[in-house]
Amino acid sequence: MDTNKRLFEYIATSPTAYHAVAHTAALLEVEGYTELEENKKWELQRGKGYFVTRNGSSLIAFRVPRDDYRGFMMTAAHCDSPSFKIKENAVLSDGKYTRLSVEKYGGMLCSTWLDRPLSIAGRVMVRTQGGIETRLIDFGEPCALIPNVAIHMNRNANDGMAYNAAVDMLPLIGEDKKEGASFIERVAALADAKAEDIITTDLFLYAPDEGVEWNGFISAPRIDDLQCAFASLKAFVDSGNGDSMPVYCLFDNEEVGSRTKQGAASTFLFDVLMRTVSALGGSDEDYRCKVASSFLVSCDNGHAVHPNHPEYADKNHSVLMNGGVVIKYNANQQYTTDALSSAVFRLVCEEAGVPVQSYANRADMPGGSTLGNIANTQVSLNTVDIGLAQLAMHSAFETAGADDTEHLIKALTLFFGKSLCTEQSGVYKLI
Ligand code: CO
Repeated sequence: MDTNKRLFEYIATSPTAYHAVAHTAALLEVEGYTELEENKKWELQRGKGYFVTRNGSSLIAFRVPRDDYRGFMMTAAHCDSPSFKIKENAVLSDGKYTRLSVEKYGGMLCSTWLDRPLSIAGRVMVRTQGGIETRLIDFGEPCALIPNVAIHMNRNANDGMAYNAAVDMLPLIGEDKKEGASFIERVAALADAKAEDIITTDLFLYAPDEGVEWNGFISAPRIDDLQCAFASLKAFVDSGNGDSMPVYCLFDNEEVGSRTKQGAASTFLFDVLMRTVSALGGSDEDYRCKVASSFLVSCDNGHAVHPNHPEYADKNHSVLMNGGVVIKYNANQQYTTDALSSAVFRLVCEEAGVPVQSYANRADMPGGSTLGNIANTQVSLNTVDIGLAQLAMHSAFETAGADDTEHLIKALTLFFGKSLCTEQSGVYKLI
């Protein structure tokens, strides 16, 4: 199966961060990786691969080198996407229509969520004999829709529309008069539980559209950031072993600032790295030496120059889909890239035969931030912010370059097998 077909499959099985982590864990298990629990003592074997999850929505995987190792060669991507979270008391009935009460998760382009079949997925907490059990559910088919107001009733609809999330964005899920299972009964059936045993839920709307490849482009929901999550996972699994420990990170909550117990601003990465060092008999000092000989590639998609609005791109830093890996720069360090980290990563891409493009925002447009600078507040190390160029970021259906998934896989496969050597002061070498 070709790479983008596999990517579409990964996106389809990852409607929420919980599903992305469960699916990634299953793929790692097939590859022989063993799951570790955060609440149990770790016993690691050299030459083996492991992964650990937090909250069921972030995951870190690593391979223990056979011999002593220099540092950590790491990637980070995020598995959450802008969406609408279904509120606790969800069902709104007015005698005619049944709608769901929702609130925004992250900053989506609201208009793209209108007039398209939507589905619902997430996790539910079920009361069982053994205690509170987490179960993932996915309606897996269209079951909601947010209708536009007809142009006849809103003649200004094409002149810039303000969307009020509490009014305009409530999804319709059915007719009030219709007999049948209630919303919570449907949720319970999917969770294989009785409605009265559903204690609480974390459910989200999602776009169930399948990905399509067309004229050199790919279009699908959640390309930001599942394209990078998928490419870095494939590279991690396929890569050879070098003198360092390869580490793959998948973080939840990037779209809401990462400041959660499982986000990039949490202690999750620090905890995992520190525990690998101590489980292998290393000290605090060993941990610090290793981190100083490590490198992080923060992978999150960037903005391709827009065909109808090239003026939003910086003149010398407009990047194109299918133009290769994008290195992102920002003077205020919203992107962590600096001359050193960029130089290191450029040489990786050069060796891998992967083209590189440079991105910076127009100096009068603030742009976004991503994982790198946030992860550095907990584990501080040389980091480069990169991504793949895409259009319509935070749309319910995004577009990217068909060749770029493979570009990133190639660059990162080489990267994971490398080590950062700094034995001569001030001179950095990848070996
Ligand atoms: Co992103």
